[in-house]
Amino acid sequence: RLQAVLLSGGSGTRLWPLSREAYPKQFLPLAGEDSMLQATWRRVAPIAPSPPIVVANEEHRFLAAEQLRLVGVSDPAIVLEPVGRNTAPAIAAAALQAMAAGDEPLLLVLPSDHVVRDADAFCAAVQAASSAAEQGALVTFGIVPNAPETGFGYIHASDGEGVRKVLRFVEKPDTDTAQRYLDEGGYYWNSGMFLFRASRYLDELRKFRPDILEATTRAFESAKRDGDFVRLDKEAFAACPSDSIDYAVMEKTEVACVLPVDIGWNDVGSWSALWEVSEQDGEGNAHHGDVISVDSRDSYAYAQRLVALVGVDNLVVVETDDAVLVARKDRVQQVKDVVAKLKSDR
Ligand code: GDD
Ligand code: MG
Repeated sequence: RLQAVLLSGGSGTRLWPLSREAYPKQFLPLAGEDSMLQATWRRVAPIAPSPPIVVANEEHRFLAAEQLRLVGVSDPAIVLEPVGRNTAPAIAAAALQAMAAGDEPLLLVLPSDHVVRDADAFCAAVQAASSAAEQGALVTFGIVPNAPETGFGYIHASDGEGVRKVLRFVEKPDTDTAQRYLDEGGYYWNSGMFLFRASRYLDELRKFRPDILEATTRAFESAKRDGDFVRLDKEAFAACPSDSIDYAVMEKTEVACVLPVDIGWNDVGSWSALWEVSEQDGEGNAHHGDVISVDSRDSYAYAQRLVALVGVDNLVVVETDDAVLVARKDRVQQVKDVVAKLKSDR
């Protein structure tokens, strides 16, 4: 059995001012009518039809529950984190929840804020990777890199076809190192989507980060169950070290495999990434809402009121009820600095 796990705890600060702490990007309909969480579920429901395990922050419990209900999910398990401790504990909590249900499914772990254009190809890839995962591999899905991005994990794959062994996993290298990997060849980006047996993940976590496993287990064992919600114990979970699966397990394990995929993947990590995945007009402009553009090119505009662009290129304009962002498209990574300033100055 395949059990979908939807990771829904990120804050998406680089998509400010749309993505907010109270309403982060996974709950927004950024690429279509569905929210990104809803789209993530629909993408895999054909191959993983049992109700998903969603791991989210306590603060977003009603958003998550309501959005799932709207796409026809009944009886999900919504594991609630009193504080964010990154993905290693979040996935551990999901694995414990899956094991508590009695059987031991394959976990299909999915960030709930990515775009995958070709869902059929992704589902076929998951099925192709299932037997390796059954046999105990921690499988990740690799993306062919096209730039020395520093926001991704890099996977050095052994030669071969289909699912192959990971020789080395390096989380978020610096630009020079990333460029070296591209020049060398044989490297993929980690898509952040994983397939493995719940017990195998917990075993590897026990090997490399017993502190994380112990704290998460304590928080899970004293969790309060209330309808679909599984509320992790606050004190125990707050005491858990914060780390991602990538650093805590993937860089260290010797049982990782990768299946390279071509699925139209984009992690929509910034406004320029959203521009890339949006439908563009003949001038390369992508618009959301009421936007008029005159003599403008390669720009992205998100409008709640009416926005007009005149004679500009490579610009991002995002207009919401209480904030307006105007940025050069090649500088949108710095939007997170705006959020940092907002947090420290006000
Ligand atoms: N429940 C929960 N709790 N979810 C979380 C938490 C948390 O504390 N922190 C992050 N997430 C969710 C995010 O919402 C996102 O869907 C996913 O887990 C990955 O977290 P990110 O914070 O977006 O990670 P990243 O983008 O820096 O890096 C990861 O993804 C890259 C691909 O997009 C890594 O796996 C990289 O290796 C990978 O290349
Ligand atoms: Mg991400």
